[in-house]
Amino acid sequence: MVEYTGVKTCNYTEESNMENIIDRIKQLKKQKNAVILAHNYQISEVQDIADFVGDSFALSKKAKEIDCDVIVFCGVHFMAESAKVLSPEKTVLLPARDAGCPMADMVSVDDVEKLRQQHPDAAVVCYVNSSAEVKAVSDVCCTSSNAVKVVQSLAQHKIIFIPDENLGNYIAQQIPDKEIILFDGYCTTHKRVKAEEVDAARKMLPHAKVLIHPECTPDVVGKADFAGSTAQIIDYAARSKDKEFIIGTEQGVLHWLQKHYPEKKFYLLSQKLICPNMKKTTLKDVLNSLENMSYEIKLEQELIRKAYGSLNRMLQV
Ligand code: 13P
Ligand code: SF4
Repeated sequence: MVEYTGVKTCNYTEESNMENIIDRIKQLKKQKNAVILAHNYQISEVQDIADFVGDSFALSKKAKEIDCDVIVFCGVHFMAESAKVLSPEKTVLLPARDAGCPMADMVSVDDVEKLRQQHPDAAVVCYVNSSAEVKAVSDVCCTSSNAVKVVQSLAQHKIIFIPDENLGNYIAQQIPDKEIILFDGYCTTHKRVKAEEVDAARKMLPHAKVLIHPECTPDVVGKADFAGSTAQIIDYAARSKDKEFIIGTEQGVLHWLQKHYPEKKFYLLSQKLICPNMKKTTLKDVLNSLENMSYEIKLEQELIRKAYGSLNRMLQV
């Protein structure tokens, strides 16, 4: 486990080359009335060029409210898709075409339909890490920031939660009076962390607080001082009087934390906490995206209408 020191993640042959890219991005943003949204898990240079950096929930809200013609979404495919659903009149671009989320690909419309047949009295809550098609056949969407609130708000006792089994487990523990039907999807990055790594980290830094994302397995989450979504982890570290934190979520969050709270020290719980898909977008991709208006997210009107229902219900909660 090493302290985060803000190392550059891209290789630019010359510093000036990177500055040229940044200048060009800024010019094109103005010309095209574009806004850059970046998830907290993006590489540091991309976070630094973005107009807004946030977790899935904050970015969904921004995508809906923001006044612009073009959204450049630096994240993974389902996030850009959600932005398009919430703001269909805007052009939404995903700079790295192949940046997907393996968890989102684990659940299909067929899976949801089978689960509905098995549990006709249950409500279907889908984690935002899912395709627009899956959102369209779900009752309501949620992110890790508001999952407990969303499930609590439902009248139904039985809840089918897709696709993340670990987040579903976490919700079930928080709301024991609901019956949560779990699906066997998972985050390929958070799931790799082992409970022994938490023990080893605590041994090395006994005074540090351990903050863990509920996409990790229950035995890992059970060892945390605080379990919460990306935004909740940031908020905890910001408000805490403690000075050292072991962060159990994707590495990109440490860039934001170190930048905003330089008087505190942040350590990544495990080197496995790097999502390869979240790291695909480079500054060159952002520039290419604005120059060529690529890669545009296009969705059928009917799909947008149906998926909007479950995303908007979440925003209302
Ligand atoms: P949040 O941004 O909701 O914490 O989601 C975590 C995640 O894994 C996004 O891909
Ligand atoms: Fe998907 Fe996990 Fe990567 Fe998030 S961190 S995009 S859930 S694989």
